[in-house]
Amino acid sequence: MRVNFDEIIDRRNTWSSKWDVKEGELPLSTADMDFKTAPEIIEALKKRVEHGIFGYTDVADEWKESVIAFYKRRHHLKIEKDDLMFCTGVIPAISSTVRKLTTPAEKIVLLTPVYNIFFNSILNNGRIPLESLLIDNDGYYTIDFADLEAKLKDPQATMMILCNPHNPVGRIWKKEELAKIGKLCKENGVIVLSDEIHCDLVDPGLEYTPFASVDETCKDISITCIAPSKTFNLAGLQSSAIIVYNKALKARVNRAINTDEVAEPNAFAMCATITAYEKCDYWLDELREYIYQNKLHVSEFINREIDGLKVLENDATYLLWIDHAKLKVSSIELARFLKAKTGLILSDGSIYHGDGLDHLRMNCAYPRKVIDDALERLKRGIAIFREGR
Ligand SMILES: Cc1ncc(COP(=O)(O)O)c(C=O)c1O
Repeated sequence: MRVNFDEIIDRRNTWSSKWDVKEGELPLSTADMDFKTAPEIIEALKKRVEHGIFGYTDVADEWKESVIAFYKRRHHLKIEKDDLMFCTGVIPAISSTVRKLTTPAEKIVLLTPVYNIFFNSILNNGRIPLESLLIDNDGYYTIDFADLEAKLKDPQATMMILCNPHNPVGRIWKKEELAKIGKLCKENGVIVLSDEIHCDLVDPGLEYTPFASVDETCKDISITCIAPSKTFNLAGLQSSAIIVYNKALKARVNRAINTDEVAEPNAFAMCATITAYEKCDYWLDELREYIYQNKLHVSEFINREIDGLKVLENDATYLLWIDHAKLKVSSIELARFLKAKTGLILSDGSIYHGDGLDHLRMNCAYPRKVIDDALERLKRGIAIFREGR
């Protein structure tokens, strides 16, 4: 390995939203990584800083070229320059698109449990989330297509937000599943916003299927959001891309992000993204291997050593979804208990809706020693919890 992912870096006192916690607490919650980004990106940023002038920045043609080449090389997705727009983040893109393409009181379909901030983008804009619950087949989640179809048939349903691969259950959706979603959405006049922010972080040897690549229907009715933020740990630099193949739809999305003023990059977004997409494939491949080994280690440890917890199957993201139904306690209470007794902070599954009340989410993008510290705390915390019962 060229990259030392074992290096422990103190993130306190950097205004990190995850690490703004008490002394002794260990947050394995918010989805960013405790790894330094690739050295090539740091060098590019240093050069930009040394220039010393941080004026307004345009979306560079090299940015489009780097996104197009990266997605072709890694995901076999063909994008033309004209299909591509810059946005300051996936959530800004989602919120803006929700506002432009749907009207208040319309319904937006979600497969739950799902990334909690989707609910903010819907509810804060006066739209209504319509949940189709995923089915847990002994640890492997699948879509309840009969239920999804019923939800999509609701005359008030006009958009579906898909998470591909899915946070928090870690599924890479199969081509057949995506084709079915596309067909049902087309039949019911529902636009699909496919959030593919986790697509680069699939387990080694696996590939994901971009929703827009499935067939002409999926290509025609979709808006795809991608970003280097999860992949290269650049969330704070506010850089993402939107792909829309349908020209009429693209014009509306373009209008949406420009109306909301989220279509222009800051001074660092261009150089970091271009460098990431052009020069850092080796770093990403090593990262995927490290995360995969961490996830294996965590799953084996929890399933072997901690009675009452079960890590569910996962083939993408650095997030593990842990079932604690056997403990007969809500995730709200259990997360609070673990934090109070051991300092370990995991995400309370209830924020993701669906069956989240029986689950905790654990971020595994940490050096192995930190993961081991977290596992010891988790084991101790669950033991204390069981003793108190
Ligand atoms: C599925 C998903 N979408 C979007 C985001 C956030 O994207 P951004 O920071 O680009 O707004 C996250 C972060 O955890 C996520 O998991």
